[in-house]
Amino acid sequence: MPFSEKHTFAIEQAVELLNRDQVVGLPTETVYGLAGAIDSKIALRKIFTLKERPFFDPLIVHISDFSQIEPLINCNVDHMIRTLAQKFWPGPLTIIFYKSDLVNPLITSGLETVAIRIPNHPIALEVIRRLGKPIAMPSANKFSKTSPTSAEHVIESFRGSDLFVLDGGASKIGLESTVIRIKGKDKDVNIEILRPGFITKDDIHQAIPGIKTINYLNSISSPGNIEHHYMPEKPLIIVDQHISKISPEFLTQTCSRLNTSFSKPMFLTLNQNPQIAARELYSKLRDADNLDIDVIFIPKPPSQEGLWAAIWDRLNKAKTLNLTLP
Ligand code: TXA
Ligand code: MG
Repeated sequence: MPFSEKHTFAIEQAVELLNRDQVVGLPTETVYGLAGAIDSKIALRKIFTLKERPFFDPLIVHISDFSQIEPLINCNVDHMIRTLAQKFWPGPLTIIFYKSDLVNPLITSGLETVAIRIPNHPIALEVIRRLGKPIAMPSANKFSKTSPTSAEHVIESFRGSDLFVLDGGASKIGLESTVIRIKGKDKDVNIEILRPGFITKDDIHQAIPGIKTINYLNSISSPGNIEHHYMPEKPLIIVDQHISKISPEFLTQTCSRLNTSFSKPMFLTLNQNPQIAARELYSKLRDADNLDIDVIFIPKPPSQEGLWAAIWDRLNKAKTLNLTLP
């Protein structure tokens, strides 16, 4: 793919930095990531330090081509994996595999498994191709805070850290990849969804007819699946009514009933179209943080099916409180 002169230069810069044990901010179709070469212990440690992320929370390895997978894993690439890869890669699906010795335990937090995906963003793919090796890349936000969907968000999150960020435009999807694990064999095989994302349960069922899928959302099997995550700086309150039906006075009264002293509420809305709602969510939360308000109200998503499941998951972890109004 032809890149603009500006992007070509920035891609070269990013590759050079990655070759020198540095970390860089990179665009992907889901959210922006903080990348380091998988064979650089220095860069891997920097990722955790910069993000203030605990070492128990493993990173996703990003590759640019399916052929890069074999050296990273210690299991067979069977028909199901090939089908999932053909259908969803490059794209917002992360698959957990048993890992080979080549994958540094720093990446996997000492687990026997490694998470892998091929991102669907020409710039991220070109950086990995030119580097000639995979990168480890978590979302480019401070641990437990709202994820970034633009280069500005990354710069804002790491202000003062002298981080190189490659600007590839706004992330088209806006929510992190779906993380899955394949469990069991033959007739007893099923797919566990460790983190819901843009690839929904239905998408997986369509790709592999008859497969059983299980939600494993609150399991310790996904160490990053902690209770509070994606949180804006201001308190976020989910309300179960349509925001237009709630008067600001009523909410302020409710807050005082809850023993709080919010005086400048802000009312966010979710687009009816879940793809747009997903794309906008993190930037709406970040914009709200930068305004002169002291509490953010957001309505409960209209459904928990399809892509709404992922939106619901993120809101539930980002919230301070769930409020049911009479
Ligand atoms: O869309 C995405 O996946 C983005 C972009 C940058 O690619 N990356 C991302 O990475 O969301 P991060 O580090 O923010 O989230 C990775 C999630 C965490 O919840 C982590 O616990 C889980 O993947 N994970 C990583 N390795 C795992 C493993 N071996 N077993 C289970 N869960 C794993
Ligand atoms: Mg993250």
